[in-house]
Amino acid sequence: MSQTGLSPLTDKFGRTVNYLRLSVTDRCDFRCIYCMSEDMTFLPRQQLLTLEEMAFLSQAFVELGVNKIRLTGGEPLVRKNIQSLISDLGSLDGLDELLLTTNGSQLEKMSPQLADAGVSRINISIDSLCPERFSAITRTGKLERVLAGIEAAQAAGIKRIKLNSVIVRGKNDDEIIPLVNFALEKGLDISFIEEMPMGDIGGRDRQRTMVTSEEIRDIIGTAYSLLPSAETSAGPSRYFRITDSHIADSDIRIGFISPHSHNFCDTCNRVRVTSEGRLLLCLGNENSVDLKAVIRRNPGDIDILKTTIVEAMAHKPERHYFYDDDKPQVVRFMNVTGG
Ligand code: 5AD
Ligand code: SF4
Repeated sequence: MSQTGLSPLTDKFGRTVNYLRLSVTDRCDFRCIYCMSEDMTFLPRQQLLTLEEMAFLSQAFVELGVNKIRLTGGEPLVRKNIQSLISDLGSLDGLDELLLTTNGSQLEKMSPQLADAGVSRINISIDSLCPERFSAITRTGKLERVLAGIEAAQAAGIKRIKLNSVIVRGKNDDEIIPLVNFALEKGLDISFIEEMPMGDIGGRDRQRTMVTSEEIRDIIGTAYSLLPSAETSAGPSRYFRITDSHIADSDIRIGFISPHSHNFCDTCNRVRVTSEGRLLLCLGNENSVDLKAVIRRNPGDIDILKTTIVEAMAHKPERHYFYDDDKPQVVRFMNVTGG
């Protein structure tokens, strides 16, 4: 706490940051159609933060009041030796929650280690339950492995597992109810994410194929009664519960992440760090601060790093601007940004 009683990570709009999303790699074993182009070039390895630098940077954030860190990618579990970073973070004093967003492809083998290291919550992406379609959407993914990964995560005792689905018109918009049924059957929460215009994926007009949260909610409403839930995860999700009495055990939540149709910026509590060590103050803006340069110029100096992070807070924009004059404004790909 600073002398004013405010956390050092409070911005000029009065929002306090306690949540860091850290992209540990831009690489992925999938090539999802809404995330990557088919022939992605990835960053040369020396441009990435090392795992040690990531641990150091995380420590700086935790000392500044961050108590929740989510590892994202790309696919975080394809980064070599990621387990060592996860163990380091798991033992950071002051970190209450260590979370992971994954495509599930490595969970079958890695779930027990993740649970041991203290990963408390996992988000797993799944956009289709038909094997052929799943492979078409992810271009390289196998549904079977992800399903086995979900089972393994549950078996390892990871308490909170949430499914994430991106619905693309003409690709999987007829699977909304099957995906909800699957979540119910497994006893897992599920969130539907509106497709965001991140990076030039070529060939498709995303404003046309984007399915809004409202539309998805209406479709679910044809099969289930949804009741808005007061709980939030202090993030862009709005949650609903199924109230139909014939659904036994329906304590799952259905979330909607709606960057287009719902403005969540005024309660934003998060920042992101890319795999190259760029601190992004907002998902929907390009401004960033190069933390890698600070770390490499001042090895081991956590105070300089912390000062840089505190000063960066002044540049946290009030809201996101995904579209400017109807043209996508963010050129970063999602795998660089961290979902
Ligand atoms: N729009 C919305 N969601 C996306 N994701 C990846 N790219 C996009 C995009 N352009 C999702 C993935 C995953 C999460 C990390 O982000 O499906 O669930
Ligand atoms: Fe990989 Fe996730 Fe991007 Fe799909 S959405 S290509 S799984 S990083």
